[in-house]
Formats: sequence, structure tokens, C-alpha cells
Amino acid sequence: MTGDTGGPVSLRQIAPDLLLIEVAGRRMLTQAECPHRRGRLRYGYLNGRTLRITCPLHHSTFDLLTGRQVAGPPCGSLRVTLLPEDAASPRSAAEAAEWAAEWAERAEGLRPEAGAP
Ligand code: FES
Repeated sequence: MTGDTGGPVSLRQIAPDLLLIEVAGRRMLTQAECPHRRGRLRYGYLNGRTLRITCPLHHSTFDLLTGRQVAGPPCGSLRVTLLPEDAASPRSAAEAAEWAAEWAERAEGLRPEAGAP
């Protein structure tokens, strides 16, 4: 993962299928795999200025506030949920798994459906 200017950025894989992204004072959960052909977004390019992430495989780019695809081969939106400012961050791997499960449940439809392309 690489970042751009616009303030501190971080990207953590907190579950096999979820990323926690912190950028420009905002935190969001996203699916870990690109909706195009399952590129691993943790190795993508995170732009802290435009709040976008670009897949390392075929360069689809997604708006991190809406999940909308803004460039690349047509594949639909990235599933994203913005976290409230008061949502605590996980402090350990075990806590991260529990935390991710709770947030994925709250963010209906965040996780890809089984068997989805
Ligand atoms: S897998 Fe991400 S753009 Fe193709």
C-alpha cells in the first residue's frame, strides 16, 4: 500500500475480507478484494488527498466515501462503510476480528456474497 499527501493515511487488513482505512481524519471499512477480479486492495494505491484507492491489478479506482468506481474496467462499486468518530479502534488481532465482525454486521452488505465473481 502506498499513500499520497493530504495527511496521515493508514490501511490495515483486520480480517481476511475487510480493510480498515484511516485517511484525512476519517475511518472506513471496505471489502479487502477489488470487485473486478479480486485484486488485493491492501497493495493498492491510497490517495489521501482525493480519498480514493486504486487496485494494483487493473487500476480500478474507487471513491472511499461512497465506494463508487471512478476509473478502470467496469465492475461496480466497492463496499464501504464510514465509521463514526467515536468508534473505538481495535488494539489486538483478536479484538480486531471481533470488532470487524460487529461492524460488518452493522454495515449490511459490506462483505461480498459467497460465490460472487
Ligand atoms: S482486480 Fe482490481 S481492477 Fe481488476
